[in-house]
Amino acid sequence: MDPQDRHICSHAFEQRQDHHGAVAPPVYQTSIFTFPDLESFSRAQLAERERFIYSRGLNPTVKLLEDKLAALERGQACKAFASGMGAISATLFSLLKHGDHVLRINQTYGPSVELLDHMARYGVSHDGIAGDQQLTDHLRPETRLIYIESPSSLRMELADLEAISAIARKRGILTLIDNTWATPLFQKPLTHGIDMVVHSLSKYIGGHSDVVGGAVIADAKLIDRLFTNGHQLLGAALSPHSASLILRGLRTLPVRMAEHQRNALAVARFLADHPQVAAVHHPSLAKGAAADWAARQLHGHSGLLSLALHHPSYSRIANFIDALELMRIGVSWGGYESLALSPMRPDGSGQPLIRLAIGLEHIDDIIDDLERGFAALDR
Ligand SMILES: Cc1ncc(COP(=O)(O)O)c(C=O)c1O
Repeated sequence: MDPQDRHICSHAFEQRQDHHGAVAPPVYQTSIFTFPDLESFSRAQLAERERFIYSRGLNPTVKLLEDKLAALERGQACKAFASGMGAISATLFSLLKHGDHVLRINQTYGPSVELLDHMARYGVSHDGIAGDQQLTDHLRPETRLIYIESPSSLRMELADLEAISAIARKRGILTLIDNTWATPLFQKPLTHGIDMVVHSLSKYIGGHSDVVGGAVIADAKLIDRLFTNGHQLLGAALSPHSASLILRGLRTLPVRMAEHQRNALAVARFLADHPQVAAVHHPSLAKGAAADWAARQLHGHSGLLSLALHHPSYSRIANFIDALELMRIGVSWGGYESLALSPMRPDGSGQPLIRLAIGLEHIDDIIDDLERGFAALDR
């Protein structure tokens, strides 16, 4: 973990002298900002990207979060949104037009795929490939955007960010990565040539399962485009209150990520050695080219992983998950608490995987819980 990141999470950009020395940044719970005369109002309106006018555009509490996230990703600028999907939809609607094609790499977060399906009515098409498929075979003259998840959030697949961005740049195609799994502490895609990073702040960055938010980080020009079209017009603005909760999450992100990593590595090893387990999906166990990409791109491992059982069936998966006492059953991930779910449905559809979000509990308690799950498999 880069020591500079600890400073960014805790102190950077906090102008405490402007706030009576308050150690916690104030929550600017205001919708509007007023002006002493019409000329200063008119001048502010001409620079609405920089000036505080209306909190659907810019708000000081939200801006502090945006400055920190841009710095953590080593980007020029950031725009925060009311959710990860708010960030993703604003990006897609801002950058794409009728006739454009999007190529997705690795399994993309489900609602993003649904959104792209929906965009067919505006003349935007998409398809997807795995990170180890030949990229150039799938690019079309009308491909405008490559949308990557690496690591992805169900099978934790990886992709070669430098190779992809080099090909995309030559062809004038923009690249976007969902970096939610790794957080900016463990992966900085912009430094590997990727154009835009999107985050669900509802996961590790918020960190306590009590807030929903999203962000996009890129160069200032791209963020300006997103601000004007995707943010101001679609309107998924992050509230100052939510920004303040996410700022509080950021302060402990480095220590939480170190602990998520410690617990997840222990769980991944435990599962990999378990006789009931056919496969464990976690980048720490990647092999071949994916292991090289992980070594080059990842500076750490977060706590989201999945496993496949030998002889999987809905009832065995349900027996396992229902026997867990510590881990709760629920969507999302990245909070302090361990969670389990499966995308498999009772009719046998969906992938027969168990996804675990490894939290911050004591590792012995987590392993004991998993033992309970395995003991219940054939109940
Ligand atoms: C990988 C990934 N990206 C994006 C999102 C969307 O974020 P949000 O729920 O904050 O809209 C999620 C949410 O689960 C996710 O898992």
